[in-house]
Amino acid sequence: MILKSKGLILRPFRTEDLDALFESCLDGGSASKKHPITKKKAEAYLRKLLSRQKDAHRFAVIIDGLCCGAMSLSDIKQSHKAEAAGIWLRKKCWGQGFGTTGVKLLTQFGFKELGLRRIYAYIDKKNVASITMFEKAGYKREGLLRKERLTSKGKFVDHYIYAKVR
Ligand SMILES: CC(C)(COP(=O)(O)OP(=O)(O)OC[C@H]1O[C@@H](n2cnc3c(N)ncnc32)[C@H](O)[C@@H]1OP(=O)(O)O)[C@@H](O)C(=O)NCCC(=O)NCCS
Repeated sequence: MILKSKGLILRPFRTEDLDALFESCLDGGSASKKHPITKKKAEAYLRKLLSRQKDAHRFAVIIDGLCCGAMSLSDIKQSHKAEAAGIWLRKKCWGQGFGTTGVKLLTQFGFKELGLRRIYAYIDKKNVASITMFEKAGYKREGLLRKERLTSKGKFVDHYIYAKVR
């Protein structure tokens, strides 16, 4: 499935995305710093993105012909709902509306193609960019989950749960 809007394409990952994916990871593509900063780790990350399609729809975010990030609908265990997760872009692409466009496309895909009724996202309480992005894509805040996630530094952080339903 290939989704397009406003200069952005969401399509399945390909093996030839490796170099651009690695460059994007180096460009601080994730607030959580969990993405690979060595080529070997980037290869393993790409393998994971390519292989785990059964329980998730993982898309490469293509801007100007290159892979600049990722977006997924995961945890599609029950037929009606999924999590919008693994969403990140390289810093070079931030602040130009690509995040919002991508989340809108992903959401439309989930509702129209997968027949979902609910798409949700967990967002770090301090992640203003992500909160704004999801709100602009029509998601509503449903609550605050205290100490929801444990960071790699051993700190528990609060997360909001956001969702869009149809
Ligand atoms: C979250 C992320 C994908 C947003 O991508 P983006 O392309 O910059 O998003 P948009 O350009 O659509 O911006 C969305 C809104 O957030 C605002 N915004 C962006 N960065 C911001 C920041 N650091 N602080 C406050 N607001 C910010 C933008 O101004 C925009 O609002 P506006 O259109 O009213 O001006 C990107 O910041 C990112 O990759 N972050 C690191 C990974 C991450 O946090 N992922 C989300 C996990 S839930």
